[in-house]
Amino acid sequence: MDPASVPTITLNDSTEIPQLGFGVFQVPDEETTRAVNSALEAGYRSIDTAAVYGNEAGVGRALASSGLAREDLFVTTKLWVADLADPARALHTSLDRLGLDQVDLYLIHWPAPATEAYLETWEALERLRQEGLTRSIGVSNFLPEHLDRIASLGGTIPAVNQVELHPALQNRQTQTADARLGIATEAWSPLAQGAVLADDAVRAAAAAHGVEPAQAVLRWHLQQGRIVIPKSVTPARIASNLDVFGFDLTSEELDAIDALDRDGRTGPHPAEFNG
Ligand SMILES: NC(=O)c1ccc[n+]([C@@H]2O[C@H](COP(=O)([O-])OP(=O)(O)OC[C@H]3O[C@@H](n4cnc5c(N)ncnc54)[C@H](OP(=O)(O)O)[C@@H]3O)[C@@H](O)[C@H]2O)c1
Repeated sequence: MDPASVPTITLNDSTEIPQLGFGVFQVPDEETTRAVNSALEAGYRSIDTAAVYGNEAGVGRALASSGLAREDLFVTTKLWVADLADPARALHTSLDRLGLDQVDLYLIHWPAPATEAYLETWEALERLRQEGLTRSIGVSNFLPEHLDRIASLGGTIPAVNQVELHPALQNRQTQTADARLGIATEAWSPLAQGAVLADDAVRAAAAAHGVEPAQAVLRWHLQQGRIVIPKSVTPARIASNLDVFGFDLTSEELDAIDALDRDGRTGPHPAEFNG
């Protein structure tokens, strides 16, 4: 797969992010190196990790051994809840583990809204961006009310909001708030960790185009403008999850997948999770 076939999304700070990237949640560090090697060979150029995944070093080893130019890669990592008070130290630690001088996107992993600490954290991320330690800054798991509080600070608007989003949890209010504020929506668990792949509408769309159910789900996201970061440690799936630019779902197929929305949350609720 030619990496150039993956479209990019231009973020609100003019940075370009590949619309389809590779996630490494729940992958042990050693295995992460193999999986990311496999993804880079398949043609992925965007990798999504987080300090709390414990595999930034594994990502870094794969990036270093790939021989790819730094400017051809897009690396995202995230600030864990326990480090909200000291993002500079946390980002330096992440950069050391990744073996990089700069990440492309640094996200506050969860708002942890029991306190409003994330507001001060956001202002610290703005400074880290000014210092050149990250090209873009964004948030993850932020609800509309958290986004509005960030916007009311009057500074930088997050470039990205990475949230759980798949056919069984479409998070429409968050998507609307993101669009209103000019924030790109990035879908985590875009395949619902496999839970939607047997749904009739997904299977029918896949069969109609001669593709895998996961490819139909990824196409549904892409045609609706979202950034996606599917995870797999299986080389054939890693390759097929990227091979989603040679067909288009019809509007009827998109509507049928839209109709699968059912509050099928797989992770914590952002209003309740405080780390
Ligand atoms: N910001 C956050 O709070 C947050 C939370 C969760 C995840 N994320 C990010 O989002 C990424 C993706 O989410 P996720 O890992 O939870 O779930 P996901 O990408 O929706 O699904 C991954 C699961 O689906 C399987 N799978 C992958 N491709 C498949 C295919 N073509 N056919 C059948 N099964 C397939 C994988 O199995 P195998 O690996 O065994 O092939 C794995 O069990 C994460 O890796 C992480 O980077 C962010």
